[in-house]
Amino acid sequence: MTATFYDRVSAELSDIDAQGLTKPERVIASRQGPVIKVGGRDVLNFCANNYLGLAGDERVTRAGIEAQEKWGAGTASVRFICGTLEIHKELERAIADYLGFEDTILFAAAFDANGGIFEPLFGADDAIVSDSLNHASIIDGVRLCKAKRYRFANSEMDDLEAQLKQARADGAKEIIIATDGVFSMDGYVAKLKDIRALADKYDALIMVDDCHATGFLGPKGRGSYAHHGVEVDFVTGTFGKALGGAMGGFICARAKVVALLKQRARPYLFSNALAPAVCGSSLEAIRIAGGSEGDVLRKQLFANAARYRGAMAEAGFTLLPGEHPIIPVMLGDAKLAQDFAARALELGVYVIGFSFPVVPRGQARIRTQMSAAHTFEQIDQTVAAFTTAGRELGVI
Ligand SMILES: Cc1ncc(COP(=O)(O)O)c(C=O)c1O
Repeated sequence: MTATFYDRVSAELSDIDAQGLTKPERVIASRQGPVIKVGGRDVLNFCANNYLGLAGDERVTRAGIEAQEKWGAGTASVRFICGTLEIHKELERAIADYLGFEDTILFAAAFDANGGIFEPLFGADDAIVSDSLNHASIIDGVRLCKAKRYRFANSEMDDLEAQLKQARADGAKEIIIATDGVFSMDGYVAKLKDIRALADKYDALIMVDDCHATGFLGPKGRGSYAHHGVEVDFVTGTFGKALGGAMGGFICARAKVVALLKQRARPYLFSNALAPAVCGSSLEAIRIAGGSEGDVLRKQLFANAARYRGAMAEAGFTLLPGEHPIIPVMLGDAKLAQDFAARALELGVYVIGFSFPVVPRGQARIRTQMSAAHTFEQIDQTVAAFTTAGRELGVI
């Protein structure tokens, strides 16, 4: 009986491979950073979410070690049984204060934060109006909730308004607009000023996933809503990118919302507490990001992004427009994106080809990402390597 199942798995894997869509795991033999060891040699890394260069930072690493020494490997418990350590409370306070919210609830990942936010807060009489390009975890979180679902075309404000109107006409009690603060495959920043205006007009709440903004976008790196100078009701985010790169997620919101989520959010109630090492590293990363060193790192990050964008455009590559340190190099074909990444690696630059289902079919790309830890020299070397690969593969 089960043979047919395993045959089906083999067939599906072959099919993925035949379409050029297999995503290989390349094994890295060093700490995360602008230079990493792959296949026995040092290569430049241009695809980590290491925006501030804090993943692998000595102070952030040490803070994790010290927390682990003090608190052990972990709690062997979920938070509400016997898994709440002082360091969890410290981290919740630190991220809430940094982002300007009353309180925070921690999760093992932002994926869990997005999976856990909707279902406890919204019911069948409510409506969730969600951007079509939202991260997979928001889509899954919305699916777990009984609220009525409405989708608007990516950052299309006319469509958002149409969906809000429809939700009101359908008699929704509460409406929540859910959006990525920055769309992770494109580096586009959500139009939060317009979204705020529409939320006010239709009396809706706003939830923003700021995984690709917290730590570096807006004043003090507070995120996309701070960048636009607007307030939102809920922010979900990660410690796995700019804030140290370890792992772990959170929701910042009003204290009473956090209190309710701590009673009802399933990934919080039924999953282990965040490891102390992760808390220690994240606390140190927040300290750095929120201080004057953070300002220096952010300035460097955006200077790096501008230099790379300018040089790549001049070399003839098609980039998606913007200023965000996510800079997609558009190639179209999935196989071409894989070949480009493979050739770039031979030339000393580690990047990955992104293809369906991570991005729409026919829009395969190399998503390059800048870090404050990159030097101008490394950026210039990368552009030179890409230019060679691009010419060889007929991209430019
Ligand atoms: C927009 C967005 N939301 C959520 C996540 C999930 O973050 P985490 O790795 O903390 O689960 C990611 C990570 O890829 C992301 O890009």
